[in-house]
Amino acid sequence: MSLLAVGVLASGRGSNLQAIIDACERGDLQAEVKIVISDQQDAYALERAKKHGINAYFVDIKNYPDKNAYEARVVELLQQHDVQLVCLAGYMRLAGATLLKAFSMQIINIHPSLLPVFPGLHAPHQAVEYGVKIAGCTVHFVDAGMDTGPVILQTAVPVLDDDAGDTLAERILEQEHLIYPQAITLYAEGKLKVQGRRVKISYLKSTLGNS
Ligand code: GRF
Repeated sequence: MSLLAVGVLASGRGSNLQAIIDACERGDLQAEVKIVISDQQDAYALERAKKHGINAYFVDIKNYPDKNAYEARVVELLQQHDVQLVCLAGYMRLAGATLLKAFSMQIINIHPSLLPVFPGLHAPHQAVEYGVKIAGCTVHFVDAGMDTGPVILQTAVPVLDDDAGDTLAERILEQEHLIYPQAITLYAEGKLKVQGRRVKISYLKSTLGNS
């Protein structure tokens, strides 16, 4: 099977990027990270990419007249690397029209909550403050909203009595590093079928004996 060409957009430390790279290198994920792009010059994600011989680019939005022009450059780089799936990994911008049009239903994201609760920033902290007992993480397709696209995979993480936002975030992150490569595997194998808001996973279908 040929490897799925993945492009990663990241704004920060890039631990999810690392999990994806590691899964590819172990052979657990039939994909190859072809390019990493960051909107932040000092993003550690760029260093991680370079350490693995992956092309890494900083694209400074300030050099472009508007978001569409900035995204046109991002799309150009992704297309130059023949990217088939774009993975947002701690990318701190909403996908705009230019990116969404170029990679329609080919962009996924990971978020540290059981969406649709706690979208946006600091989701584990929101979970602790709200007092929920179960938190978690979600991989979803990206649409124009903030963490609103169709859900691919979710994992629950219990909230402990002595949790602070940071301790919960750490335990959620461990699960993120597992489900993000799993979701990419399902995509690479063509097992995801999007029907409206629902993402059907074909292995579940056959396991459960549904038609
Ligand atoms: C993760 O918690 C991810 O769910 C969220 O941003 C964080 C990025 O962490 N979207 P990292 O840069 O992958 O370490």
